[in-house]
Amino acid sequence: MKIKTLLISLILLPFSLFAKEGIWLPYLLQQLNEPEMKEMGMRISASDIYDINKTSIKDAIVQFGGGCTGEVVSDQGLLLTNHHCGYGSIQRHSSLAHDYLTNGFWSNSMEEELPNPGLTVTFLVRMEDVTKQIIAGVKKEMTEAERNKIILQNSDRIAQAAIKGTHYEARVRPFYYGNQYILMISETFRDIRLVGAPPSNIGKFGGDTDNWMWPRHTGDFSIFRIYADKNGNPADYAKTNIPYKPKYSLPISLKGVNKGDFTFVFGYPGRTQEYIPSQAVQLQAEIRNPVSIKLRDTRLNIMNEFQKQDPLVRIQYAAKNAGIANGWKKMIGESKGIKRLNGVTKKQEYEKQFTDWVNATPQNKEQYGKLLPVFADIYAEMTPLSLASAYFTEGIVGSEAVSYADGYAKLVTLCQNKEAKPEEISKLIESYKRGSQSFFKDYYQPIDKKIFANLIKTVVKDMDSKYLPPVLAELAKKYKDDYQSMADKLFEQSFFTSQEKVTALLNDFKQKDYRKIIKDPLFNIAFESRASLETKGSERLKILQIQLDSLQRIYMKAQIEMQPDKRFYPDANSTLRVAYGKVDDYKPADGIRYQYFTTLDGIMEKENPDVYDYVVEKKLKHLYKTKDFGPYADKDGSLHVGFIASNHTTGGNSGSPVLDADGNLLGLNFDRNWEGTMSDLMYDPDQCRNITLDIRYCLFIIDKFAGAKRLINEMKMVQ
Ligand code: ARG
Ligand code: GLU
Repeated sequence: MKIKTLLISLILLPFSLFAKEGIWLPYLLQQLNEPEMKEMGMRISASDIYDINKTSIKDAIVQFGGGCTGEVVSDQGLLLTNHHCGYGSIQRHSSLAHDYLTNGFWSNSMEEELPNPGLTVTFLVRMEDVTKQIIAGVKKEMTEAERNKIILQNSDRIAQAAIKGTHYEARVRPFYYGNQYILMISETFRDIRLVGAPPSNIGKFGGDTDNWMWPRHTGDFSIFRIYADKNGNPADYAKTNIPYKPKYSLPISLKGVNKGDFTFVFGYPGRTQEYIPSQAVQLQAEIRNPVSIKLRDTRLNIMNEFQKQDPLVRIQYAAKNAGIANGWKKMIGESKGIKRLNGVTKKQEYEKQFTDWVNATPQNKEQYGKLLPVFADIYAEMTPLSLASAYFTEGIVGSEAVSYADGYAKLVTLCQNKEAKPEEISKLIESYKRGSQSFFKDYYQPIDKKIFANLIKTVVKDMDSKYLPPVLAELAKKYKDDYQSMADKLFEQSFFTSQEKVTALLNDFKQKDYRKIIKDPLFNIAFESRASLETKGSERLKILQIQLDSLQRIYMKAQIEMQPDKRFYPDANSTLRVAYGKVDDYKPADGIRYQYFTTLDGIMEKENPDVYDYVVEKKLKHLYKTKDFGPYADKDGSLHVGFIASNHTTGGNSGSPVLDADGNLLGLNFDRNWEGTMSDLMYDPDQCRNITLDIRYCLFIIDKFAGAKRLINEMKMVQ
């Protein structure tokens, strides 16, 4: 290399470090991130992204249905999110006669848009640091319980005062494990209608095979609309409600991306744990994940086998299967990623530095000297308990009927109380009746029975005998390890395996009938297992968890003190955040480099008419052959489907807008790459990429594939 180029590359070095770890608070961007964002290419200012005194991009961002993100893209409240975020709603409107999941759904007018009771979207009105007010009255020598009590009281008071006389909601949320408190004021809309969704072989193209992976070709979007009352305020569904007029809607860029382009993601990341000790990482990656993965393997194999055989069952189990598979695959990727990164060792090395820092001054020693040793003790005690609880949630109540039966504990408790009012009981009965209908609509007993037999077998075989609930050991003995006959018998005897039996139980239910529930074999499995685990440790687990919370708060504070020059960001906690990075390729393994974008050609390459997830519809093939891409083609002439960038994202960021340097919409975030899934525990700028659906593919599907011009006309495109 010539001296001159060497010099240039040295000067450019700080700018070419593409990846930026961090899930940042919007209200602090100006203070912490704006210079860097601009340096990386951003042309708007931090106050264009978040400002409480003027309209800003944040006014177009919603938390969708509690677990996802969505964005407003028209002045009539049109909303984009992922297909997998709208999945449950699409499924609920689906039947064999109207199989929207398979065939897609496109409303032709506002009248045809479908209401979704229970579905909400929430806008953030503002956030405000209220740490001082929240910890007022908290003293050093207080116990954790005393401390929490005061914090709760202060939080309630401040939240209530903040929204007095408005229809907003308010919540105070802890950050940095309780070193900071932020008040969140929000506005929630309750009439959200389904406007359109592509068929699953577009919206979920590649299915669970491609899930969590790059290169990806999934058209993972669905379209909703926010409705409000005639004053523009949130209201329950009413025919007379009108489309919501938002404060802001996102302009859409048709320009596409190039390598190195600045992007940012604005949304609701759910949970990261970047500041926990090595033992916690080890527990999750090396101990809990493998057990959960194995138990989920069992459930998924059985579901898949039955779903292949029967189209109705395929619909019934679509969302359940996707949910279980999603977590399963994430855990596999996460454990692999931590291993590859030597994550546990890295944490241990960091802890050595920490210990040196602690030992360097008497004050630190006094304040923080016990921290790491106590962590070690607690995790040592916690590990077997935590593992037992994984067997419980993933195994014992992994059968739908057992978990459903478990839900009747509330009724039993109420009925056992002699003072319970009859109205109270009948009200509860009514809610169980309604619940039973939605449960059995998607319940297929042969699947569940087989799952039950196989899960119980694994639990009995694998679980540490010290923790194995006696009820299971006894059953195994009674049925001589013949788990299929065990399942046949218990499912026959139980109320909770068919709608008829549950209806029979609930009709004319008398207070003393709780005894029938107690005697139910599946209820009994859940109940006895829980009780046994409680005496053996899950009560203890809760206590340890509280101790950990308090230790983690101190550890967090200490970590910040140790690195005064480091810019910290709080772990994700389902609050509105900004992540930023650059469009970038990566090297997943020796000898391979993945490009940063995919195209429609790749869909044709993956096509497989025999495998549902890879079926390409005639219409799409025709558009491909005739290259009828309209204004959505890239300048290279092809139709881009997805791209990757180095934005730090996590679950909950699904549906988040990925925006360009000018704040225009480039696409919808919908996934992370397999090699980067450990980023919830440890971020690796080299390997972590977020996966985005190119907005031009989304628009192409709406326009060219579905012919839904009326929706395209609502949106504002920039060339
Ligand atoms: N992995 C993505 C997320 O974490 C997408 C999940 C939905 N897709 C699927 N094939 N199950 O949620
Ligand atoms: N698909 C994820 C979600 O539902 C986003 C991907 C991720 O975890 O990064 O939120």
